[in-house]
Amino acid sequence: MKFFIDTANINEIKEAASMGMVDGVTTNPSLIAKEGREFTEIIKDICAIVDGPISAEVISLDTEGMVREARELVKIHKNIVIKIPMTIDGLKATRMLTDEGIKTNVTLIFSPLQALMAAKAGATYVSPFVGRLDDLAQDGLVLVEQIVTLFDNYGFTTEVIVASVRNPLHVLDSALMGADIATIPFDVLKKLAGHPMTDKGIKAFMDDWNKAQGK
Ligand code: G3P
Repeated sequence: MKFFIDTANINEIKEAASMGMVDGVTTNPSLIAKEGREFTEIIKDICAIVDGPISAEVISLDTEGMVREARELVKIHKNIVIKIPMTIDGLKATRMLTDEGIKTNVTLIFSPLQALMAAKAGATYVSPFVGRLDDLAQDGLVLVEQIVTLFDNYGFTTEVIVASVRNPLHVLDSALMGADIATIPFDVLKKLAGHPMTDKGIKAFMDDWNKAQGK
């Protein structure tokens, strides 16, 4: 499973990359706004750290505006993937950009049929939002399972990026379902690495070692 990091924070990206855990990066307008810096500067900095797909989201809501923004964004770096909201205008933009050889990540996917339509429009990636469905007492992971099944049934090459990841179980269950990618916030990534028994084991080893040294 590929791990993307879901952040626009340069320090988090650097640290996760130094752990060997960053196959790509996803951003969105909210994550960019949190950094308080200029959009293209942040994206350039990310591209200099990570050699993998970097999702940058368009702000326009109409097809023409989305395509115009996308054509500018891809000039920044060869790894840029254009993140497009799942709307009818977004589908049209996805089709046009795919035909131009520009990679797309259709985002804000909340139903399997939205994912199917995005794949038919030629999306490189789709991003189902599991946490936001869980927030509504709907099981977000069921959506992932349905999308993986649909894409397998029809041989779509569109990759599934599990997004709105809130906890380690979201990552584990997505991996067991065969989702291609999880885009993981930095705090959740750190949680994946930890286990209380690991900490307990390290402490016991150190205590025994120190005892034997007469400390
Ligand atoms: O990048 C999109 C997505 O991962 C956002 O997650 O936690 O704001 O629902 P969240």
